[in-house]
Amino acid sequence: MIIAPSILSADFGHLADEVEALNASAADWIHVDVMDGVFVPNISFGFPVMEPLRKCARKPLDVHLMITHPEKYVERFCDAGAWSVGFHLEAVASDEVSDILSLIRAKGVRTCLTINPDIPAEGLLPHLAEVDMVLVMSVFAGFGGQKFIPESIEKVRFLRQEINRRGLPTLIEVDGGVNAQNAGLLREAGADALVAGSSVFKAPSIQDAILALKNA
Ligand code: DX5
Ligand code: ZN
Repeated sequence: MIIAPSILSADFGHLADEVEALNASAADWIHVDVMDGVFVPNISFGFPVMEPLRKCARKPLDVHLMITHPEKYVERFCDAGAWSVGFHLEAVASDEVSDILSLIRAKGVRTCLTINPDIPAEGLLPHLAEVDMVLVMSVFAGFGGQKFIPESIEKVRFLRQEINRRGLPTLIEVDGGVNAQNAGLLREAGADALVAGSSVFKAPSIQDAILALKNA
């Protein structure tokens, strides 16, 4: 299982130390949550934080854009050191999705398409072959520390069946309220990657919490 701790839950007064702890851990990626206060009712951080992250991180930066008009910013996030850039399907017009994915791909960066819990997984089907990853939100995007929505597991199972049926290499990532209790169920349903904020950073040991998710 790929584990992507979300630095949204880190102590930003000691960002370099937090990233160092992730560098030294079994984490695979570092998940970077960008919120604009418009697409979601919260504001996190943007380009200025990409700079120290890119300098300190020895793990790929998995950027999750919770913003309107991602087409205006995806290339800048690629240039800022993103290894993967994802945006929300419901944030853009359906005839724009492929063009925005192309902007990311043209930068040599991996693509991800995301849906909130109220968006049916069927909306992702036309794009499964053109993205490297789909991200199933298991809480409504906007805040760390929310409770996992169990119905997300069925969405993962549905997408896994469709991806396997078509023989695609597309990965499935799950984000929101992920912990050692639901990680096993998500693995069973066919998830490849798990994002975890509070269950990693609020744990007594970041390292142990990441291992617990990996081995769940
Ligand atoms: C929610 C973010 C998540 C969040 C995960 O809007 O996209 O990545 O930081 O945090 P936890 O694991 O605490 O739900
Ligand atoms: Zn996220």
